[in-house]
Amino acid sequence: MKESSATRATTLPTAAEEVSPILQRTDRYTTANYARYPIAFVSGKGCRLTGDDGRDYLDLFAGLAVSSLGHGHPALVRAIQAQAEKLIHTSNLFYHEPGARLAERLVELTFADRVFFCNSGAEANEAAIKMARRASSQSGRYKVVAAHRSFHGRTYGALAATGQPELREGFGPMPAGFVHVEPGSAGAVRAAVDGETAAVLVEPIIGEGGVLVPPAGYLRALRQICDDAGAALILDEVQTGNGRTGKLFAYQHEGIEPDILTTAKGLAGGLPIGAVLARQGLADCFVPGSHGTTFGANPVACAAALAVLGELLEGGVIDNVVRVGDYLLERLRTRLGGRDDVVDIRGKGFMLGIEFTRETKPMVRELLARGVITNSTAGNVLRLIPPLILSEAEVDEGVEAIARVLG
Ligand SMILES: Cc1ncc(COP(=O)(O)O)c(C=O)c1O
Repeated sequence: MKESSATRATTLPTAAEEVSPILQRTDRYTTANYARYPIAFVSGKGCRLTGDDGRDYLDLFAGLAVSSLGHGHPALVRAIQAQAEKLIHTSNLFYHEPGARLAERLVELTFADRVFFCNSGAEANEAAIKMARRASSQSGRYKVVAAHRSFHGRTYGALAATGQPELREGFGPMPAGFVHVEPGSAGAVRAAVDGETAAVLVEPIIGEGGVLVPPAGYLRALRQICDDAGAALILDEVQTGNGRTGKLFAYQHEGIEPDILTTAKGLAGGLPIGAVLARQGLADCFVPGSHGTTFGANPVACAAALAVLGELLEGGVIDNVVRVGDYLLERLRTRLGGRDDVVDIRGKGFMLGIEFTRETKPMVRELLARGVITNSTAGNVLRLIPPLILSEAEVDEGVEAIARVLG
């Protein structure tokens, strides 16, 4: 029988100890751009992952907010298997049913008139920036106003939009026209927008930058600023989208609509997909030849996304995020709120951050040693972005483990 994470106090292997061939080969043959934890996962079920050493982990990380239905979800596995048996790829020079149905579903569920499919969050933001610039190119608008501490991806346009200068180090020169302002400040956005601004691009809740929740009314104010200036409002919902905050998309909490929305991560529950949702007037600037990608709207990824949306909306998963997300926030505040080293506990749904007065990477390592997967971001924030199917019992187990590690 496997040990439960609450009773176990184990350690991660150190460099001197024998490491698995999977770790050795990966470190020997791949580029060294990821600071990986020394664990290779081989299988998963629900909110549990199993390592190649047979150890069992509670997943409060969901592969970076991707595994929305957890691991091995029967509806998702069935949809992928069925589509893989029928047809895996045809290219965008032809039509296919899962792509047609997914585009229709996303349009029906949101403000959008049109969808452009790609394969990742960075690609979605890249396409959104290109769309906003091309749509307003006649009027000479090209600037993009974004937030300090934001994260939009690693391709050149998305990286130029990202408000973390350290990520650009050594990669210059960057594309021109990107302006960064204080996060969460509508006044700063208004001051930065001018007659050359094509778009304002923000995350509804900044994820990688430390789970920064803007003040109430922020998105509404940005909507007004963009309307006044004739600029497009682009919401990067790569992380906040697909049910993570308790609505299908986070803008739906605010009673406003963007002009363009980008998403990826949890949309297909673990298969690579990205999507740009756009109003007709902006989408019209994409004509044959103006933009494209070979794998975008891959039939298997689209079938997976249809299964995810079905579970989120008809299967009660978003209701679970609302209910258990509130419970998780309440448990964290009760258990950790009074500590001297805790600065803030914040977030929405299953996108929560605990800000500390100290580094959180050592906590993540200790939690891993106890069989709980969490994430450190922005240096001093412990981020919880679990599968959207997390239960109250799993919340209790995770919060107990965090409290024990903190001592
Ligand atoms: C808000 C946001 N935008 C864009 C991205 C980039 O997505 P991808 O890594 O799929 O390119 C991320 C990834 O963490 C993100 O959190």
